[in-house]
Amino acid sequence: MTIRWYPGHMDKAIEKIAEAIRRTDVVIEVLDARLPSSSSNHLLEKVRRHKPCIKILNKNDLADPIVTKAWVRNFEAEAGVKALPLSAKQLSDAKKLIKLCQQIVPHRGKPGWPLRVMVCGIPNVGKSTLINTLAGRSMAKVGDKPAITTCAQQIDLRNGIVLSDTPGVLWPVMDDQVGAYRLAASGAIGSGAFDVATVGLFAAEYMLRRYPEALALRYRLEELPEDPHALLEAVGRRLGCLMAGGAIDHNRAAEAFLRELRAGKVGRISFEEPEQVVADTEAHPAGDSPQEPTPLTTPMRLKPHKQ
Ligand code: G4P
Repeated sequence: MTIRWYPGHMDKAIEKIAEAIRRTDVVIEVLDARLPSSSSNHLLEKVRRHKPCIKILNKNDLADPIVTKAWVRNFEAEAGVKALPLSAKQLSDAKKLIKLCQQIVPHRGKPGWPLRVMVCGIPNVGKSTLINTLAGRSMAKVGDKPAITTCAQQIDLRNGIVLSDTPGVLWPVMDDQVGAYRLAASGAIGSGAFDVATVGLFAAEYMLRRYPEALALRYRLEELPEDPHALLEAVGRRLGCLMAGGAIDHNRAAEAFLRELRAGKVGRISFEEPEQVVADTEAHPAGDSPQEPTPLTTPMRLKPHKQ
């Protein structure tokens, strides 16, 4: 099943973001470092135009550091873009971001002439966490639905920088199913919106191919299972996901495996690399959503978001 999630208020949301960007000096796009392409919304590029942009590769603590370096090089090849891997919970990382904003727009940040920064991103990438760390206090959670907030919330950081955190809530673009699987595996999409067993198999297949040593280490596997089903069985057995009678509970095993991946228990992993995203796009250009995306053999059964 192919998902096309296009909420009615999407055009309005992007209009509002475009409007707010006109009154902004630096656009901060928060991405998930584990899947920087799938967690972005390409419409932001269109409305950003020539405004300087900092792409935050957040949750850096969970992502593969070598892959993250490749993403930084990839993003910084774009005009007007800086990329900064960080962990939004870390104050020292937030300070690096402030410094970078000041470097990019040195003529702002003076009394009566604040440096205006806008934070954008899809739900769950860590916008609120970043804003709270920057502000040094707990602010209201940024709305999870695109453009539901109509009045912009402004936060004076008292260092010459003023943050506007709304209406920068974007939505994940799910016009390519591989990206949708990656979003689901990373935890960006609520588990009620997809079939856990299928996404668990997707993640197991990917991990077997990309991070076999990390799997062997975490689950003390002397021999790596040959296929994702067998891997989930081995993980389920190891984590005690059993039904009465001792058979593996496949749903619970998939859930437990995804939980472990998301928490970084299997190590620092990334779900996509720049070259791979280019290859995926060439294999499935926009509008061409394959019924059976590689590497899956089972079509994804994502349910559209409830609004
Ligand atoms: P949003 O505003 O973009 O929707 O995201 P939000 O800040 O609410 O963050 C979503 C989840 O990601 C939260 O976890 C948050 O703690 C986690 N998170 C944010 N930044 C980082 C980071 O740099 N590293 C890691 N490992 N996690 C991060 P949660 O489980 O939903 O909430 P909570 O139990 O932590 O409060």
